[in-house]
Amino acid sequence: MFPILYLLFATVLCNGEFTRPPPGKMILTRHSKSSSYPQQVHISAVGTDHMRVSWITTDKRVPSIVEYGTYSGTYDLTATGEHTSYRYFSYVSGKIHHVNIGPLLPDTVYYYRCGRVGDEFNFKTPPAVVPIEFVVAGDLGQTEWTASTLYHVNQSDYDMLLLPGDLSYADTQQPLWDAFGRFVEPYARKRPWMVTQGNHEVEAFPVLHDLHPFAAYNSRWPMPYQESGSPSNLYNSFNVAAAIHVIMLGSYTDFDSNSAQYNWVVADLAKVDRSKTPWLIVLLHVPWYNTNLAHQGEGESMRKAMEDLLYKARVDVVFSGHVHAYERFMRIYNNKADPCGPMYITIGDGGNREGLALEFEKDHKSAHLSVFHEASFGHGRLKVINGSSAHWSWHRNDDSVSTMRDELWLESLSSSSACKVGSHFVASADHYEL
Ligand SMILES: *[C@@H]1O[C@H](CO)[C@@H](O)[C@H](O)[C@H]1NC(C)=O
Ligand SMILES: *[C@@H]1O[C@H](CO)[C@@H](O)[C@H](O)[C@H]1NC(C)=O
Ligand SMILES: [Fe+2]
Repeated sequence: MFPILYLLFATVLCNGEFTRPPPGKMILTRHSKSSSYPQQVHISAVGTDHMRVSWITTDKRVPSIVEYGTYSGTYDLTATGEHTSYRYFSYVSGKIHHVNIGPLLPDTVYYYRCGRVGDEFNFKTPPAVVPIEFVVAGDLGQTEWTASTLYHVNQSDYDMLLLPGDLSYADTQQPLWDAFGRFVEPYARKRPWMVTQGNHEVEAFPVLHDLHPFAAYNSRWPMPYQESGSPSNLYNSFNVAAAIHVIMLGSYTDFDSNSAQYNWVVADLAKVDRSKTPWLIVLLHVPWYNTNLAHQGEGESMRKAMEDLLYKARVDVVFSGHVHAYERFMRIYNNKADPCGPMYITIGDGGNREGLALEFEKDHKSAHLSVFHEASFGHGRLKVINGSSAHWSWHRNDDSVSTMRDELWLESLSSSSACKVGSHFVASADHYEL
């Protein structure tokens, strides 16, 4: 299918940029098994040694139980979790099960079964120590282009997927959340998918007070917020392979210096021991730096509120989505190149139905800070090799093949003596104790 589309639509420009066709067709993934058969199975990391297994059944009698073990067909362990459901106008969700399992061994394949029915699935836990490989993919949706992105993602192994917002593009059509759950299941039940929310997750109706914003998102994609001391599923954090602390922020909830989110980030940063966890990575939906014509200025108020904090805490990389293209900036602080600032990467090019954001502004005031950009669908990979070194690459979807178009080696800020990263960030003083 993809090679044919390639011939029909794709044109390769002289500068090597690959112009994409209009958005690919939606793929509506249906459920063809019984009402008790687990569907939309996905897993997410909880702490460093637990996994949350989430799935949905239309049959309300199915128990929220996961049987699991390290041998196929033999389940030594059983865990019971909780279930939820939600209403949205006339739509009533199925029974949404969430079961926290563990403690689990690192870097180990577990075999599991949901609700005592259905097939056996398996996943691999992340390693206890680096090296580790993340896939980063934003603004996914559920189109032919998304299928191409995920096909490429699956061409080589990875430990965890990070998604900086905009998942299903259901846009209030709740059955599309179910279709999305089925669409991503073959991947998301095998490796932890860690997500934060974008504008397409809000789904609020200001006049109808009983429709809470983020109802579908929070019910279906809970992240480890209680475990990270956060009051809200919209922002949370977790450690991976001891060396990496990932903070998921919410672009569509309060972020000013008096907000619950801001206060939580301050407290969370203070808990990270940078001598053991040298890497600090942040994901949020709306980019703070962006030279694409799309969504200009939308991230500015959040940048003004939080950039200082992230800079002083020496965040290594900020990933965002929203803009349907790829763009990598140099290390920046306050609109200037700064060797101790985060590197900013926009990776909103997963392949949703809205298509690509094709135009970058050549005379944008941040253009001199932008190192590489291209409007093509694709995904990124971050391989953290050790405490000081990581490799980033961006892989564009050239239909049946995935082509690496951008790459660089990154040094962690904690390994730079100039950036003065001590072991603990002192929030009140806004700097590290040295
Ligand atoms: C992903 O790749 C593995 C290994 O090549 C393969 O067995 C599996 O079927 C692929 N998954 C999907 C959903 O295509
Ligand atoms: C980290 O990995 C890089 C790349 O492989 C290597 O050059 C460097 O020596 C390693 N550093 C440490 C401290 O092991
Ligand atoms: Fe968005």
